[in-house]
Amino acid sequence: MPDDTTSNMIWENATLLTLCDNGAPYGRIDDGALVIQDGLIAWAGPRAELPSPFSGLARRDCGGRYITPGLIDCHTHLVYGGARIDEFEQRLAGVRYEDIAHAGGGILSTVRATRETPEDQLYKTAATRLKQMIRHGVTTIEIKSGYGLDTESEMKILRVARRLGQDLPVDASVTFLGAHALPPEYKDNRQGYIDLICDEMLSRIAEDKLADAVDGYCEKVGFSAAEMDQVFQAATRLGLKVKLHAEQLSNCHGAILAARHKALSADHLEYLDEAGVDALASAGMVAVLLPGAYYFLKETQKPPVGLLRRYNVPMAIATDHNPGTSPALSLPLMMNMACILWGLTPEEALTGVTHHAARALGMADRGRLDPGQKADFVLWDIGHPAELAYQIGGNACAGVIKAGRELDLGD
Ligand code: NIG
Ligand code: FE
Repeated sequence: MPDDTTSNMIWENATLLTLCDNGAPYGRIDDGALVIQDGLIAWAGPRAELPSPFSGLARRDCGGRYITPGLIDCHTHLVYGGARIDEFEQRLAGVRYEDIAHAGGGILSTVRATRETPEDQLYKTAATRLKQMIRHGVTTIEIKSGYGLDTESEMKILRVARRLGQDLPVDASVTFLGAHALPPEYKDNRQGYIDLICDEMLSRIAEDKLADAVDGYCEKVGFSAAEMDQVFQAATRLGLKVKLHAEQLSNCHGAILAARHKALSADHLEYLDEAGVDALASAGMVAVLLPGAYYFLKETQKPPVGLLRRYNVPMAIATDHNPGTSPALSLPLMMNMACILWGLTPEEALTGVTHHAARALGMADRGRLDPGQKADFVLWDIGHPAELAYQIGGNACAGVIKAGRELDLGD
C-alpha cells in the first residue's frame, strides 16, 4: 500500500492530456497541475486556478513535460514458456501461420514449452517482460492464460499472472483462455475438451478466484461460435465476465456471439463486417484492435475503422503480447502502428491505450486524469501530443506514477 503521507503532492509545470471532455483536443490543459491525495487524483486543472485548500501540499516540478493517464494494455498473453523464433524464420521464408498451426506448431508448440516450464521460471520470464512494459508507461495490464490447455497447467499460468499483479507495481486483470487451441489429448474429441473447460476448469478457477474474465479464440484454427457459446454460458453461470478473440483470420461471426453474451470486448476484428459492428455497438462493447499481430503476420485485411467510428464503437489498442504473432512490449509503438497501418488519429490511439482500454477491462476507475480516478499517470519527454504516436523504437517515457507514487524505473 502506498504511504499516503508522502504521495500526497501537486505535480505542476506540466501539459496535462486528461482525455476528459473539456472542449480541447486530448482534454489538454496547458501549464497544468495535478493534485494527488490518498492514491487518487483530487484535482486537475490550470496551475493558476489551483484551489487554495491544496496550496500547502508538497510540489513536484515536471519541467514542462507532458502527463497522460497510465497506459493500459488490455490484451496480452504474457505468461508462457519458450519462444517461437524458428517459426518467425519459417514465416519469413513464406510459410503461413495457419499452416504452421495445422502442422502442430504455433500455439501448440508454446503449450508444450509452457507445460514443461516450472511455475517460478514462468514467473521470472514474464516479470522481465512486464518490467519492460512498465518502462514504456503501462500501469494496468490484462494477462491471459491459454498456453496450458489442461487444468493444472492453466491454473499454473493464472497463478503466475495473479502473482505478477501482486508483486509488481501494476494492476493485473487476469483472463482464463482455456479455449485457445485444442490440446493434443483431445485431437479427436473436440466436445470432450469443451466439456472439460465447462465442467472442470471453470469451476476450479472460479473457486480459487484465479480469473476475472473468460476469453476464447473463435477462429477456424480455434473454436466455433457454437463451441464458444457453451463456454460463455458456463462462465456466465459462475459470474465471470466474457470477451472474445474474433474475426482475426476470417469471419466466424464471433463478434455477434460475444455481443449476445454482453461481452466486455471483441478483439482483433480484421474480418469484422457491418453486422458485427452493429452488434458491438448495440451491446455497448469495446473493439480491441491489435496492430502488432496484424503487422507481424503481414495481414492485409484491415479492421473496419471507418465503420467502428460511424457506429461509435470505442476502439482500444493493445500489444497482444505473445510469442507467435506479436512479441511486442511497447504500447506507444502499437499507437504508431494503429495510426500508420489503419489511419487512427494520434488522439484516438492515446484514448485507445487509456480510457477505452479501461472500458475493455470493465474498469471505470482509471484511464483519464479526472478527480476520483486512480492516480496512475505517466510523464513524457515530448513536445507535442502526437509525438506519443510518432516515435518508432525510442522511449519517451520519463516517469511512471502508480497510485500516486513514482516508480524507480532503473537505468
Ligand atoms: O492473439 N489469436 C490467438 N492467440 C494469439 C496468438 C497466439 C500464438 O500464436 O501463440 C493472438 O494473436
Ligand atoms: Fe490474443
